[in-house]
Amino acid sequence: MSQSSETTPHKRAARLNDIPGDTGLPIFGQTFKLLKDPEGLHQTMISKYGPVYRSNSFFKDSVSIAGADAAEFLLMDKERNFSSEKGWAPYLERLFPRGLMLMDFDEHKAHRHIMATAFKTGPMKGYLERLNDDMPARIDEWGKQGHFEFYPAIKKLSLDMATTVFLGLKPGTENKGVNEALTAMVTAALGIVRVPIPGTVMHKGVKARKFMGEFLTKLIPERRNSDSTDIFTRLCQARDEDGKEFSNQEIIDHMNFLWMAAHDTITSSVTTLVYELGRHPEWQEKIRAEINGLGLNDSRLPYELLNKLPLTEYAFKEALRMNPPVPAIPRKTVREVEFGGHRIPKDTIVGISTVATHRSPEIWENPARFDPMRFSPEGGAKTRHRFAWIPFGGGAHMCVGLHFAYMQAKVIMTHLLPRYEIILPEEYETEFQIMPLIKPLDGLPITLKAID
Ligand code: HEM
Repeated sequence: MSQSSETTPHKRAARLNDIPGDTGLPIFGQTFKLLKDPEGLHQTMISKYGPVYRSNSFFKDSVSIAGADAAEFLLMDKERNFSSEKGWAPYLERLFPRGLMLMDFDEHKAHRHIMATAFKTGPMKGYLERLNDDMPARIDEWGKQGHFEFYPAIKKLSLDMATTVFLGLKPGTENKGVNEALTAMVTAALGIVRVPIPGTVMHKGVKARKFMGEFLTKLIPERRNSDSTDIFTRLCQARDEDGKEFSNQEIIDHMNFLWMAAHDTITSSVTTLVYELGRHPEWQEKIRAEINGLGLNDSRLPYELLNKLPLTEYAFKEALRMNPPVPAIPRKTVREVEFGGHRIPKDTIVGISTVATHRSPEIWENPARFDPMRFSPEGGAKTRHRFAWIPFGGGAHMCVGLHFAYMQAKVIMTHLLPRYEIILPEEYETEFQIMPLIKPLDGLPITLKAID
């Protein structure tokens, strides 16, 4: 596929209408189809119009580009053609402004550089200890319930973990207000109504953002000199080589954003993993044996052994392939761009579907099958297109919390699987909602059976 951002001077400016596609219903475009069955819509549009097509959703025209090459072009963005800030702004700007995904190019690089110090080995070890401290009580609680819906349970767990590990607060009354505020902000960010009219989720979200700002501002002076091992404290103390640190407002914006970026994504991916392990008891057994083989003390997973769980990691990667929690990644062109023989005008939203890329039979053999060994070296991990698997994106904006996500998923598994067998109802199959985030529509009922 030819791809370049060069526009020869004699050419007339590109026109969106020259890109094959259609805009669906009057006013609403393809919004309802997109919400109901984004993958089906994508396939229909590709078969009608080809891998670069125009459509309309959420009151905006956009262009979708499909395939691993397209993902590489959009995400690597070697020529700085695409703005992440302008791509994500319609969804995130009001409640999560100035998070990393809402910054571009040199400014983004400078902020990401400072934030990276909070994700180095030393701080990560501290976060892992907190996860190990908190996990047994949570798993005990699940074990006592025996039969419960997994999705709301893991959502609550990762919400509590986020306020202890991220903010350094104690579970209980101290984190209640924060949990409520952060939940209100995420709910509003994912809602269809984008204006804060009283009574709407957006109005609650805007109030919650104000609450978080005031709450964190009070804590920052103390955290700038604290030896606490949470992400908030690390951000308060993070500096680049020149000693530059974040301002109070920057810390607040990054914290809110980090929390949002981490919470539902971990919830969603661990839910898919548990679902697939329930459907494939042989994989549960393999991972249990791998974990038991480490001979852990009180199930605590030390940092040094994080990489000694290859099968657990393959299974988590396969869950992320089947159901990538962020189903699509948007950008906006900052100049006219050419891709796949089409000229895309400046200021156009361009998106790549992670779900469609991960479920494409052209890229993945038998994509509906749960087969973690795809991620082993002998299963093709080394030879596959490097943008065939993009749950964490790629390029300059690739997820900064990727290792944190692996760490949390592994800690949950090391505390859960040696003690319990995951059992799904007989002949059970769940249906996953894809947009705006992947989750099981029925909450995923499971039974935990204690292992003697
Ligand atoms: C399974 C879990 C996760 C998934 C699937 C996921 C997915 C993603 C994706 C797709 C992007 C890139 C979006 C884009 O290019 O526009 C991203 C960026 C980001 N993620 Fe994650 N994420 C996960 C967990 C986390 C965690 C645990 C944290 C924090 C501890 C986090 C923090 C961030 C941040 C700050 C960015 C923005 C990076 C930038 O713009 O430079 N994520 N994530």
